[in-house]
Amino acid sequence: MHAREICSGVQMIATVHWERRLFDSLIPLPDGTSYNAYLIFGSEGTALIDSTDPALRDELMEPLEEVEKVDFIVSQHAEQDHAGVLPDLLARYPEAKLVCSEKAEDLVLSHLHVAPERVRVVEDGETISLGDKTMRFVYTPWVHWPETMVTFVQEDRILFSCDFFGSHLATTDLYVTDEWRVYEAAKRYYAEIMMPFRRVIQKNLQKIAQCDFDMIAPSHGPVYDRPEFILDAYQEWVSPKMKNEVVLPYVSMHGSTEMMVKHLIDSLARRGITVHAFDLAVTDIGKLAIALVDAATLIVGTPTVHVGPHPAVYYASHLANLLRPKLKYAAIIGSYGWSSKAIEQISGLIPNLKVEVLGSVMHKGMPTTETFRELDNLAASVAEAHRQDEEVE
Ligand code: FEO
Repeated sequence: MHAREICSGVQMIATVHWERRLFDSLIPLPDGTSYNAYLIFGSEGTALIDSTDPALRDELMEPLEEVEKVDFIVSQHAEQDHAGVLPDLLARYPEAKLVCSEKAEDLVLSHLHVAPERVRVVEDGETISLGDKTMRFVYTPWVHWPETMVTFVQEDRILFSCDFFGSHLATTDLYVTDEWRVYEAAKRYYAEIMMPFRRVIQKNLQKIAQCDFDMIAPSHGPVYDRPEFILDAYQEWVSPKMKNEVVLPYVSMHGSTEMMVKHLIDSLARRGITVHAFDLAVTDIGKLAIALVDAATLIVGTPTVHVGPHPAVYYASHLANLLRPKLKYAAIIGSYGWSSKAIEQISGLIPNLKVEVLGSVMHKGMPTTETFRELDNLAASVAEAHRQDEEVE
């Protein structure tokens, strides 16, 4: 898109990837995505913050034809969607320096083959003056890689945050116009990208609070001109507080596991627990990730395939283990034909989840009255554990 002003001397060039449906060949993008670059025109110099994904190279280079000189190209994050076009930009602006964090230097050299003499490494807290505008660089590791940093322009009170606070949204909106829609997209983004680094993000939130900004300009999705909305959301997501919720991913092959899952959902709901159930044969894995942000308990439902859990359950368990949600409790339910090691195998897939196991119900064949009674007991255990946690709070 054309360059659009967000305040005097600061412009956003949003390249909108309307049709993209998968990120990193892993993350579903139901609403596409966007990559934002920002131009800062100071009285004595010009900076460009971040770039775009190589697939949209021309959409960034075209509006830049009107910008004759850029002194600093700031790479806040070395992943392709923001840095993939850096070599083209360095060729377009041969006098420009590539500004990045200490850890990013190695990444831009090895991933993008940038010439070392073009790189200017900045320290945490270092500033670069553009005359009447000053960029202060703040290291914010693990949002999303170890090298990530944000840029604060103090005169305009804008925080350029790259992936931090980003939302995968293809949109023409310059600012957030529909907070609920952006909340969903930003929560999905947090769940899939940021959640494993929750504790580091808590520290990063404290760190950026020292910058006196009233606008957040991320490199995905619209600009936050009411930043407290997304800051409050992040504070809630990274807090240790869990909700009275169960996430229940499951698969059923011949109906027995489904009968058990449906009974358990009802039994949990009777006890006032919110259940997020996902049939892994058809679910959007991003929805599962979102549900894991707040829930206290994970219950996995699986049939048995060659003694172990269904492969879709393997995948979901491995993913949950990678995402490291807050989760405090877990349980496994399911069915088998003649023998099963599903419980042992699923337990081995989630070592990162420091959970207390509240029980397991594995039934041979079609569930019986006794199976349903065991599921009711499990639901009661979950409700009691959640109730005790609420009392402690
Ligand atoms: Fe938007 Fe980690 O890249």
